[in-house]
Amino acid sequence: SRITDADEAADKGEYRHYMQKEIFEQPKVIGNTLQGRIGKTAVLEEAFGTEAKAIFDRTRAVQIVACGTSYHAGLVAKYWLEEWAGIACSIEVASEYRYRRFVVSPDTLFVTISQSGETADTLAALRLAKESGYIAGLTICNVPNSSLVRESDLALMTNAGPEIGVASTKAFTTQLTALQLLTIVLGRRHDLTADREQELIEALHQMPKLCEMVLELDKTIEKVSEAFADKHHALFLGRGVQYPVAMEGALKLKEISYIHAESYPAGELKHGPLALVDSDMPVVVVAPSNQLLEKLKSNLEEVQARGGELFVFADKDAGFSSDDNTTVINIPHVPDSLAPLIYTLPLQLLSYHVAILKGTDVDQPRNLAKSVTVE
Ligand code: AGP
Repeated sequence: SRITDADEAADKGEYRHYMQKEIFEQPKVIGNTLQGRIGKTAVLEEAFGTEAKAIFDRTRAVQIVACGTSYHAGLVAKYWLEEWAGIACSIEVASEYRYRRFVVSPDTLFVTISQSGETADTLAALRLAKESGYIAGLTICNVPNSSLVRESDLALMTNAGPEIGVASTKAFTTQLTALQLLTIVLGRRHDLTADREQELIEALHQMPKLCEMVLELDKTIEKVSEAFADKHHALFLGRGVQYPVAMEGALKLKEISYIHAESYPAGELKHGPLALVDSDMPVVVVAPSNQLLEKLKSNLEEVQARGGELFVFADKDAGFSSDDNTTVINIPHVPDSLAPLIYTLPLQLLSYHVAILKGTDVDQPRNLAKSVTVE
């Protein structure tokens, strides 16, 4: 629906756009997602409702279905469910899933992810799933009483508050937060030890503060955005769990700045996309310090050797330095488990500032609706 002048005056506060406001709300709303659901060292399982226990006890695999940004959140969760919990996870976009024959493995939990709870394809996939032999349908959703919440067996609300900007921001990071909680409660029953859970929870407690720190990079990123305003294409690279973060960064840039952006897992570069790299193709990289860092660095050398211009969002201790063709944006060191959430924020800011420079309608980009309630 269109944003009325009254809405704008009432809600935007000090911010120029809803999207900007929603980006800066993230420290607070991630706190809201966690509120009442974690103690000092563990997830409070009661918060999932009384019926949840029996469902979680039976779950041996997870099928996630979602669209757009919510799909990207699911892709991140696949890494977590498999790496941390040892639980098999498949994920697919709803518009594909609902139109093909699929095979349901025994003891699989069906999970939908949606900001609005009204996305037509996701809802249709849930309805289909209910007839297909899954243990139950759980939704991770931001809108209470939405169709997905009403029709699912279990709902884990993200509590991000209304998201008005068409480009999803706080919905994504609160979905990731909720997905960590889900990974932990399922993981307890599988490969996730109590010590590991404690580590993850201690990290989650730091989330709001770390988000604040990263948002302080706003001015730096505004400056960096100048390099994109006259470009027609951009590549986004990540490896491992940062690949879906790169996908989300590319989607944001496409949606609001109308610059064609593609994401690749960095290891795929030499299988094709490297041919695109020249001085007109900015290459954005998400590079936290993890076990794939050295591999990522050698991928980036391939870009540099072809005259590509790199913009690297890197852990401050990762050993990257700026030069003529490389701009390094230093990100504070964060626990590994939080990196996908934290590295999303500067990419949101980047697309926001590029859109401002291009003069697009940031909150209502052309051709798009906030909630896709028809096919
Ligand atoms: C993201 O910025 C989008 N506007 C879009 O991809 C969105 O995430 C998608 O339509 C799914 O919406 P939902 O989360 O409300 O189901």
